[in-house]
Amino acid sequence: MIEAAPAKVNLALHLRRRRDDGYHDLETVFVFTELGDTLRVRAEAGLSLAMSGPLAQAVGDGDNLVLRAARALAEAAGVPANAALTLDKHIPVAAGLGGGSADAAAALRLLNRFWKLEWPIARLLPIAASLGADVPACLVGRTVTGTGRGEVLTPVDLDIAGTPILLVNPRVAVPTGPVFSGWDRIDRGPLDPTAWRGARNDLAKPAIRLAPVIAEVLAALANTGACLVRMSGSGATCFALYASAAGRDSAARSLSEASPGWWTCPTSIV
Ligand code: C5P
Repeated sequence: MIEAAPAKVNLALHLRRRRDDGYHDLETVFVFTELGDTLRVRAEAGLSLAMSGPLAQAVGDGDNLVLRAARALAEAAGVPANAALTLDKHIPVAAGLGGGSADAAAALRLLNRFWKLEWPIARLLPIAASLGADVPACLVGRTVTGTGRGEVLTPVDLDIAGTPILLVNPRVAVPTGPVFSGWDRIDRGPLDPTAWRGARNDLAKPAIRLAPVIAEVLAALANTGACLVRMSGSGATCFALYASAAGRDSAARSLSEASPGWWTCPTSIV
């Protein structure tokens, strides 16, 4: 049995407030891409996870969110956690693309079927939220707005399915916590999801402070005829949207030539 784990991109992300629990109240728009990891399962006594794919090496397997998701679901459902999982890794790690969250969400969807629980998504959402702020959005896996820690979801129709998008990561892993705590705590106002084009990512500034190369990525993308350029999540991945697949692909080619060390992925919004 197999399940896709699409990467998430934050079209915009406004920070509003640091909370007493250390998290931040934010307003964001999540979209998902054709790029993703793939999770497979076969029957076996006990729980195991093997890694494959081009970015398998980057993932530490000690506290993998996939295994935590599997154990949490088994415990909630009162079933034995029997599953041999294989994760085919394509999404860069600690990159603002929700890689770990997407994998955890895919594990919940996959094992929900594999263990014949057939729970509705609504019943899986609290388990998702216990695994990370982005996991509920990844569980839904389609365009939604997120408020609260990012786990309070509202569907929104932005009519952007199929939009060509280019993802670029300078291969610098940026830890989420320090980026959030680098925010200057100035509330720059709410996010109107329908006006996401003119919105912001308030995490860009603190992320650039930690990884200045992000500013170079944004500048390079701004030179490629894109309709919009922004950082996703807590970075370091930046994205650019294009009017055509040809425009996206020629941007990808010229960036790969100019900066061969960067991870460059032309894909589409689903
Ligand atoms: O929930 P998750 O483990 O993915 O969050 C990682 C870190 O990101 C948190 O420990 C916190 O430092 C930061 N974060 C935050 N506010 C959010 C989401 C994440 O401060 N809304």
